[in-house]
Amino acid sequence: MESNFGGIVESKSKRIEESVAGNGLLHRRVFLTQAGSIFGVGTMGMLGSETTNAQNMQGRPAWMQSPGKGVGAYGTRARFEDHVQRTAGSAPGTTGAGASRTPLQHLEGIITPNSLHFERHHSGIPEIDPNEHRFLIHGLVDRPLIFDMDMLSRYPMISKIHFIECSGNSRVSGLIDEPVDQDCGVLHGLVSCSEWTGIPLSILLDEAGVDPSARWILAEGSDSAAMSRSVPMAKAMDDAIIAIYQNGERLRPDNGYPMRLFLPGFEGNTSVKWLRRIKVTAEPTMTKDETSKYTDLLDDGTSLMFTYPMAVKSVITSPSPGLDLNGAGIYEISGIAWSGGGHISKVEVSADGGLTWGEAALSEPVLDRSLTRFRMAWRWNGAPAVIMSRAIDNTGAIQPTRDSIIAEKGMKFAYHYNGIQSWAIDAEGRAVNTYV
Ligand code: CO
Repeated sequence: MESNFGGIVESKSKRIEESVAGNGLLHRRVFLTQAGSIFGVGTMGMLGSETTNAQNMQGRPAWMQSPGKGVGAYGTRARFEDHVQRTAGSAPGTTGAGASRTPLQHLEGIITPNSLHFERHHSGIPEIDPNEHRFLIHGLVDRPLIFDMDMLSRYPMISKIHFIECSGNSRVSGLIDEPVDQDCGVLHGLVSCSEWTGIPLSILLDEAGVDPSARWILAEGSDSAAMSRSVPMAKAMDDAIIAIYQNGERLRPDNGYPMRLFLPGFEGNTSVKWLRRIKVTAEPTMTKDETSKYTDLLDDGTSLMFTYPMAVKSVITSPSPGLDLNGAGIYEISGIAWSGGGHISKVEVSADGGLTWGEAALSEPVLDRSLTRFRMAWRWNGAPAVIMSRAIDNTGAIQPTRDSIIAEKGMKFAYHYNGIQSWAIDAEGRAVNTYV
């Protein structure tokens, strides 16, 4: 008997669909058909009959011996999960400038918890009183407008699930001469994904009345660096959001409280946090943040400017460094894929260093410019292996190899690196960053 379960065929057959590609990659149905037999034991057999340390003579665990804690006003996670932390680092000689990175290897699905969303600050996190905050639209407009939070809250809002990625993400994963021995979050954790809720910027710009000569906007933050970027008017009028909520609650201070610009698919720096001003302009403003930073230096000494969209990319989050395999057998390879150009149409996985590839299953939902979760069953035979993933988006863009990127752009640039990530797994089941 077969039934269709989320696009994956469930079968009572005991037959394992082996090796759609080399080195143990398995057909996606294996987990549903063989749930009990993957590990060679049934569920009860795995639990066994022995009591654990937490259990008493009656076989009841300690936490069942008396009533639990009462209700709370604001939730906290289990203390057993306290090891799941962002990796934070400040720029040398500064306190507030720096970044913290999402521990991608400890998360599942596509939504990043607000408390683990990556941060990138250029002069620390301002503490902004929302009652004092004002937002100005001026420049080439018929009517300059100034808003407080109460006025903004009366406009119609929309909610969108999108990733945001710092354009400096993954630089250390591939643009260093030798592979850096770090975990997935440190190498790739300047990407996160949330539901963002706020007001379409186009509504506010329409109300201000944009002059036909205006082709750009300047967005300026209320941090002490007055971080500011130029954005094409076409993007501002297309899908830019003045975000006020993230995953259902108000933005956190580290993500722009009380309001930020959000530009789906664009490099994260342009989604200016703590937004205080949008100036409508004819030309880009050429701020310090888009001339001294966020340009892409090429081998010939010239730089690319205003390279906004984040390219198609993926990474296997499990197995990955720090998540050791516990002996030969069947594992699920799980990872995330995303593209600033659209939605993910396919992710391929290799377990033999890129010689052969199998198509991974994409978990719903598969959304435009969102993280997308992919999964693939893999029978690890206990021998050293190199696993990797490559994503393809709906524009046909394919995640490139490290070698092809370096051949095309050199190694001087620091932004928009999207090379295929390989993890080498040794015979003990430990994974490390490797170049192939
Ligand atoms: Co750029």
